[in-house]
Amino acid sequence: MDPFTAHIDTAIDALATHGWCVLEGLLSEAATAALADECAAMHASGELAAARVGREKTLSTLRGDHTRWFDMATPTAAQRPYVEALEALRVAFNRGLMLGLVENEAHYAVYPPGARYARHLDQPHQREARVVSVVYYLNADWQPQDGGALRLYLDDGSHRDVLPHAGRMVLFLSDRFEHEVLPATRERMSIACWMRRREPGALI
Ligand code: OGA
Ligand code: MN
Repeated sequence: MDPFTAHIDTAIDALATHGWCVLEGLLSEAATAALADECAAMHASGELAAARVGREKTLSTLRGDHTRWFDMATPTAAQRPYVEALEALRVAFNRGLMLGLVENEAHYAVYPPGARYARHLDQPHQREARVVSVVYYLNADWQPQDGGALRLYLDDGSHRDVLPHAGRMVLFLSDRFEHEVLPATRERMSIACWMRRREPGALI
């Protein structure tokens, strides 16, 4: 079995058993570095916008990141390998977990030093369309003392802190796990993605 297929099978088993998992090394280091360079360049040229919480205006105490959505139909050269990997995961989750996922959406996120994202569930506006949350990290040489962990609250009341190391991917069921982004001492870059089923009530 090739390494990519093995990663996907690991994710299917872990999602079925625990509802969440961490994958390392799904993309090459070069592909991850290209994403990090593009994210940093877009941020430097003002192409990321302050994130919103639901339909409310920006409330940086709740959420301090800046985001930019991918155009999934026409990804940039840097985005293409990642968009293709997400698509392979989506198709495999449909096959292995019968999730009925119809599309992926993704955005870059940059958290300036000190920014956080307060504890939340990835289900804005009470819509049920987001089924699997996938976060991919772009930060080379991240150290524990840099902070910035993703804190995932588990079913048993405990939590896990996942540091945002370049090349690390966290996947979890969107309706099941509250989570938060802890503040970091340095800029923190990630790609957040949601695998979606058809909007409830949408026309066929
Ligand atoms: C989000 C989110 C987590 C992270 O964008 O909804 O929870 O670690 N991101 O960046
Ligand atoms: Mn979230």
